[in-house]
Amino acid sequence: MNRLIAILCLIALNCFSQSNLKETYNLMPWPKSIEENNHRFVIDENLTVSIEGDSPKRVQHAVTSFLRRLSNRSGVFINEGFAMPLSENQQASIQISFKESAKLIVDDDESYKLDIQSNKVTLVAHTDVGAIRGLETLLQLLTNNDSEYYLPGVSISDAPRFVWRGLMIDVSRHFHPIDVIKRNLDAMASVKMNVFHWHLTDDQGFRIESKIYPKLHELASDGLYYTQDQIKEIVEYASILGIRVIPEFDVPGHATAILTAYPELGSKPGATYKIERYAGVFDPTLDPTNEDVYVFLENLFTEIAPLFPDFYFHIGGDENEGKHWDANEQIQKFKKDHNLSTNHDLQTYFNIRLEKILNKLDKKLVGWDEIMTPNMPKTAIIHSWRGEHEGLAKGGTLIEAAKKGYNTILSNGFYIDRMESVVKHYQTEPIGDVQLTEDERSRILGGEVTMWSELVTPLTIDSRIWPRTAAIAERLWSPKNITDTDNMLKRLEVINYRLEDVGITHIRNKDVILRNLSNNQDISALEVLSHVCEPLKIYSRNEGGTEYKTYSPFTLFADACNVDAKDALKFKKAVTNYSKTHSEAHKTDIISLLEIWSKNHEAFQKIDKNPKITPLETLSYNLSEVSKFLLKRIKNERTSKKDMKTFKSQIETLKQPFADVELVIVNDLENLFEALK
Ligand code: ACM
Repeated sequence: MNRLIAILCLIALNCFSQSNLKETYNLMPWPKSIEENNHRFVIDENLTVSIEGDSPKRVQHAVTSFLRRLSNRSGVFINEGFAMPLSENQQASIQISFKESAKLIVDDDESYKLDIQSNKVTLVAHTDVGAIRGLETLLQLLTNNDSEYYLPGVSISDAPRFVWRGLMIDVSRHFHPIDVIKRNLDAMASVKMNVFHWHLTDDQGFRIESKIYPKLHELASDGLYYTQDQIKEIVEYASILGIRVIPEFDVPGHATAILTAYPELGSKPGATYKIERYAGVFDPTLDPTNEDVYVFLENLFTEIAPLFPDFYFHIGGDENEGKHWDANEQIQKFKKDHNLSTNHDLQTYFNIRLEKILNKLDKKLVGWDEIMTPNMPKTAIIHSWRGEHEGLAKGGTLIEAAKKGYNTILSNGFYIDRMESVVKHYQTEPIGDVQLTEDERSRILGGEVTMWSELVTPLTIDSRIWPRTAAIAERLWSPKNITDTDNMLKRLEVINYRLEDVGITHIRNKDVILRNLSNNQDISALEVLSHVCEPLKIYSRNEGGTEYKTYSPFTLFADACNVDAKDALKFKKAVTNYSKTHSEAHKTDIISLLEIWSKNHEAFQKIDKNPKITPLETLSYNLSEVSKFLLKRIKNERTSKKDMKTFKSQIETLKQPFADVELVIVNDLENLFEALK
């Protein structure tokens, strides 16, 4: 009995100390285990790094980046700016060793062990990729007091929960040049993500040079495409960071760009096509009954596949409504002749043909979950994207795929283009409470964040991807029981600005947009509004896909705003707590925000108006007015019945969208009013 109590105490103590540790260290993803010692490794100019391991290219690159970021953050003039082999410096203060170079395949070992003592840091990994994951942890540990920067004494043992932790970037709807891709790869590596899924083709553009079918990039990209040399450059860049690159060629639907170049491959006889400028699901579809389609795809894939060394090749396969198939008599006859009763069966026929082509090229087929039809070979990987997340607890296509014998990855719940809170994504647990056999569990490879780019340009894409993707990276790397949302938000605040160290432009570009909006006048009033406004969510910003074309302006107020608006979060917390406790501290927080908002309209009015700003005037005015009213209430000053009526009508006004943003504090303003009754 005493032993049992002792064990329980130890477990409780361990849980307590782990949660305390989370208060101290701004690590993301949170490691599998971390223990403190009483040491402290001080950063000074004598710091040196050694590497022991064959083919140290990745680790050398990572150490150079580590040392630059370390000295940039600490201001320390480190004497030696590069790593050396252990044989040349047995006394190096940071010693890194690994056994082998990762092959960049799904089951690479990415584990590492880190030990920080007063005069020595040891980082041991099985592979070079494990070592570079550990270096990112080391850098996240950097902290300071008023006289020195140091690495706190800890021992960490870490390994990922899922082997596939990806980010998909759609470069078709809006093209994103290689510098955008590179900085996002750097950011991915900083939070230990390991798959870049490159959505290269869609209705709005074919973004890769083809030497054998040059009309694809010449006629279907507006000149915005990657040369094959650029593709190789990105694949190499990613490889150095331990990131696999999976290309996606979306077929047979989402094919308007392909058909713009080669209309004879389409399902509508005699049709010609133009690159799509709007967003949505469109009818142009490859003709699966036309042998020339398979010749085209085999030639194209044979040309393109060698640019991507990864085993996996994504063929899309989503959202084919088959309207052009239904309207084509010859296709209908083909279905009858081949005993294919539905369009799904016809698409499976097409997918199986593609699978054979890809097999010849030594590639495994990945497709969105529409490809999971009864005859689809189990060698395909199912990419789960549809269905409500609530459905996942009961199954969802991820679990269904694993149970049916497919390897599978999850994106449902990780659609960051829906502009929903990081909390929602963080709480998307891929497996939930579902009971799985060991084999079924092993088939769930992980997940991918999806950055569909209908509403993002190179100016804004970073602010849509980050920082939310860092929290999803944690969901996919860290143990299942790391779920404390408040703690995640606290760490994310720090990780957010550290992403700037690797070149992510999410914070700085906001002011670029606001200066453009105001014609370079004082932007502080717009900043205040942007801290309580968020872009319209779940695709309502672009109702029906026709409000914005691919070349519309994405330099509007909505583009400067972001999800999880910071003062809105602060206000919500203060109002929720104040409603429960009526404490002075929360009251003070509320008053300070209301004072900012109540004065803001005066500042807003000082900006010379232009057509981009004028639509915000009603929002700005009413926010100031309701804030003034609530200030009076919270300070127990007199308000009349008329004031109250005006307040209620102003609140109703504020519930409307303005210039594609919503004021996300409206409910909390109302809640505060109720709490003050
Ligand atoms: C998708 O979002 N259509 C895969």
